[in-house]
Amino acid sequence: MKGKDLLSVADLSGEDIRLLISEAMNIKAEGWLSLLNRKILALVFEKPSLRTRVSFEIAMQQLGGHCVYLSPDEVGLGKRESVSDVAQVLSRYVDAIAARTFSHQTLEILASYSNVPVINALSDWEHPCQALADLLTIYEKKGELQGLTLAFVGDGNNVAHSLLLAAPLMGVNFRIASPSGYAVQEGILRLAQEYATNSGAEIFCTEQPQLAVSGADIVYTDVWVSMGQEAKAQERRHIFTSYQVNSELLSLAKGDAILMHPLPAHRGEEVAEGILDSVQSVVFDQAENRMHLQKALLAIMLGGLDIALPAYR
Ligand code: CP
Ligand code: NVA
Repeated sequence: MKGKDLLSVADLSGEDIRLLISEAMNIKAEGWLSLLNRKILALVFEKPSLRTRVSFEIAMQQLGGHCVYLSPDEVGLGKRESVSDVAQVLSRYVDAIAARTFSHQTLEILASYSNVPVINALSDWEHPCQALADLLTIYEKKGELQGLTLAFVGDGNNVAHSLLLAAPLMGVNFRIASPSGYAVQEGILRLAQEYATNSGAEIFCTEQPQLAVSGADIVYTDVWVSMGQEAKAQERRHIFTSYQVNSELLSLAKGDAILMHPLPAHRGEEVAEGILDSVQSVVFDQAENRMHLQKALLAIMLGGLDIALPAYR
């Protein structure tokens, strides 16, 4: 890792990610382990969550540590109290902070004023823990990463950004189909293209879902209306109508392609009714793997394993 925090997939190298996946697989096989006795993680959330909150809480408990959850109303990040003060106070009590924020800048301020590691539990910009857990799921299902093709259909959002960075770091080709005006951010795309040049992966952006999905090993989608975009829900549903992943679109992918979604899903919108319950869907494995991957991440970041991510050494 490039620093004490994990705010972006760009904080990691391919070697870091390989290590995380391999430790997550070891820890998954063991279950409960006393790696983080007497360690405390604060969960500071500005938005709702099922998977992220529960997977972090259970991960800490199964490793011998504890969590303190702070809901949006309790902390009032930047409203009741400045983000910098919250960071400095929490640093006196806990060993790490996992924060879910609207603005990515809030996370950056938290991290810069915190003496303990800060983990991005989703911001409007990225969702790195999701992408890392997804790579674990893909590796488990396919037995390899290098040379696979992941097709993302839909909004160039936080989940897409983290996958766009994570895929080429691991040699996975990344294709994305989004409507005009909803593509991924230029800066992230440029960085991903650098990673792709180094790993031999290919990146392809299009407005046509069929072009992205054709021959893909993994078809991935996410909601059309992310948390915080509710006011634009109607407009977005209209714009994204032809980006639904349905059996017709999925049939263009490889015969053994898997279907992924970070959840929560809106069945009948970004995914056709029933498709997340088909044999191709691995969405509940994805959800489970959040916990295993985060156990490895926490154990490494908080010194519970006698190893460090390469940039920490
Ligand atoms: N995938 C994910 O982050 O889910 P939650 O919003 O429920 O945490
Ligand atoms: N893009 C979605 C992901 C939820 C896990 C959101 O930000 O709401």
